[in-house]
Amino acid sequence: MFDTMKLRIPIVSPYLKRAREHWKWNLKSVTHPDDALRERVDAKVVLLTGASSGIGAQVAHRLADAGATVLLVARSGDKLDALAQEIRSHGGAAAVYAGNLAEMQDCDRICQQALADHGRVDILINNAGRSIRRSIKFSFDRFHDYERTMQLNYFGSIRMAMNLLPGMLKRGDGHIINVSTMGVQANPARFSAYLASKWALEGWSWVAANEFAHTGVTVSTINYPLVRTPMIAPTKIYDHVPAMSAEEAVQWMIDVIITRNKRKVGPLGLFALGMSYAFPKTTESVINAGYQAVFEEQPAATSKTQKPPANASPRRSRARKQTGDGV
Ligand SMILES: NC(=O)c1ccc[n+]([C@@H]2O[C@H](COP(=O)([O-])OP(=O)(O)OC[C@H]3O[C@@H](n4cnc5c(N)ncnc54)[C@H](OP(=O)(O)O)[C@@H]3O)[C@@H](O)[C@H]2O)c1
Repeated sequence: MFDTMKLRIPIVSPYLKRAREHWKWNLKSVTHPDDALRERVDAKVVLLTGASSGIGAQVAHRLADAGATVLLVARSGDKLDALAQEIRSHGGAAAVYAGNLAEMQDCDRICQQALADHGRVDILINNAGRSIRRSIKFSFDRFHDYERTMQLNYFGSIRMAMNLLPGMLKRGDGHIINVSTMGVQANPARFSAYLASKWALEGWSWVAANEFAHTGVTVSTINYPLVRTPMIAPTKIYDHVPAMSAEEAVQWMIDVIITRNKRKVGPLGLFALGMSYAFPKTTESVINAGYQAVFEEQPAATSKTQKPPANASPRRSRARKQTGDGV
């Protein structure tokens, strides 16, 4: 093995520069956040997925206001057109790339078109996502739940990154932000399909960050808690549970764009993570007791014999509410 292995001594200067930059931007994010955001994104090209709704739609406005050219991506072209129009009417720059990111050809098409139109993408925000809330015992004949969460949340996100990373590495600068959930720290019941796909995305993100640390390309992960957006609307129980506002969620995103920190997570996520490591069985019992106490869930209305066609638009609808989609 050692015959074929070539060893090189790593150059340490990039790490020292990174450490200096890290503290500079973290300080600036607190003292001069608006200036810092402008410095980070002015005249930059930002590709933002999931821009038609919720967190993404609001982030698009903030980035355009700070001088970025925002490339808006989602399936609903009409909503994206309206958003781009609004941004332009405020003097900002936006372009629309409609497509289904669960289809790898769409990911490739969107990235290639964006590169052809704008020459580069400086920041990729993988924010599009879908959630499914269903117990494993109600999923035995719904393997497609696992496939479709992986398809969008994991494969779609890394396909976008694979298309845009070569340019970022060539320029020695780039930022990929992968949107995840605090569920990855807390592992609540009923979210096996959703959380497994976000765990996969986080696994990729951490390895990628470790591989690219010397290159100028940064990879960040955001672990949002519950956020009041259309995603959680189908789950009526969340009407009575505290949730972060979409405005605060935007602020988290802005903070990550400025600092380029590796992870953004709140105190609750850190507490959940600490508990799961320090007291794994106690944590499991607490979550299980909560799972058994809340029994509003019904078996899904559809089964594998009613698997939705690959090109079906899984937009929010009565059917979606009945089948348990939503955070
Ligand atoms: N809301 C929460 O409580 C919460 C908590 C933790 C993490 N998150 C994460 O935050 C991110 C944003 O969620 P949100 O709350 O803003 O949800 P949202 O309002 O439901 O927005 C989801 C976005 O993803 C897009 N999308 C869904 N499927 C797509 C597909 N196949 N191809 C392309 N785009 C697709 C949707 O647009 P189209 O329908 O037009 O395609 C929409 O723009 C997600 O990754 C989510 O997992 C949310």
